[in-house]
Amino acid sequence: DGDLSPKIFINSRDITERKRLDEVRLALEREQELRTLKTRFFSMVSHEFRTPLSTVLAAAQLLDSSPGAWANPEKRDRNLRRIQDSVKNMVQLLDDILTINRAETGKLEFNPQWLDLEKFCSHFVEEMQLSAGARHTLNFACHAQNNGQNTGACVDEKLLRSILANLLSNAIKYSPAGGQIQCYLTFEKESVQLMICDRGLGIPTEDQKQLFEPFSRGKNVRHLPGTGLGLVVVKKCVNLHGGSIEIASEVGRGTTVTILLPKI
Ligand SMILES: Nc1ncnc2c1ncn2[C@@H]1O[C@H](COP(=O)(O)OP(=O)(O)O)[C@@H](O)[C@H]1O
Ligand SMILES: [Mg+2]
Repeated sequence: DGDLSPKIFINSRDITERKRLDEVRLALEREQELRTLKTRFFSMVSHEFRTPLSTVLAAAQLLDSSPGAWANPEKRDRNLRRIQDSVKNMVQLLDDILTINRAETGKLEFNPQWLDLEKFCSHFVEEMQLSAGARHTLNFACHAQNNGQNTGACVDEKLLRSILANLLSNAIKYSPAGGQIQCYLTFEKESVQLMICDRGLGIPTEDQKQLFEPFSRGKNVRHLPGTGLGLVVVKKCVNLHGGSIEIASEVGRGTTVTILLPKI
């Protein structure tokens, strides 16, 4: 109405109530997440224990009740092997759960010591080759600066073992027969790079985001046994070293896991 004098509008609201609501909402979300995790935990554990336990029971009952099976060395060995493999899987599952629990309560021990990484990794890859058998070929290569004068770093041997065991067994498990698996160790100025490459099944893009969440597995590997805890364990071990982990993968082409660990 022609009034051109400046006007000031003050828009103030009490936001304490909104802040409180946000907090409640966050707490509810967290609660929901924990509930989902618990459900997944129970369903995974009951399945992952029930299956090997049934195998153990069936194999033991067969050997016990049929004298023919016991007398036949082939049948006996096959069933004894089944029992051992099943028990090993259950022990692995329990170990993973314990490791994650220790890491989350700050009780996972970290004892870094000087270790010749080249020697350690090459032995480890050889060991894994022996257990993988002829179905897969594992290669190891080391690139050291200064012509390999120094291939050591300060790491926790037990945790490193767990990292390598998990990554190599994934590469083997998720590669078809005849699959080639490469393990590269590269010494950089301040860090050590460990790379594990396979040309296996790969990981669907939509599953790549939550690989470090407990119990999460790719949609394309449901037919293969697994718990979805291995990479969680790996990540905890890498974190304790102050290192980093990255996974690049494409379905049908393969997967490369890269780990960087500071030298000291
Ligand atoms: N080398 C690999 N090739 C293809 N998929 C992989 C590989 N490593 C991990 N994955 C995917 O990541 C998921 C989580 O791996 P992990 O935590 O080791 O659990 P698990 O092997 O018991 O399923 C696997 O279920 C699989 O979908
Ligand atoms: Mg695994």
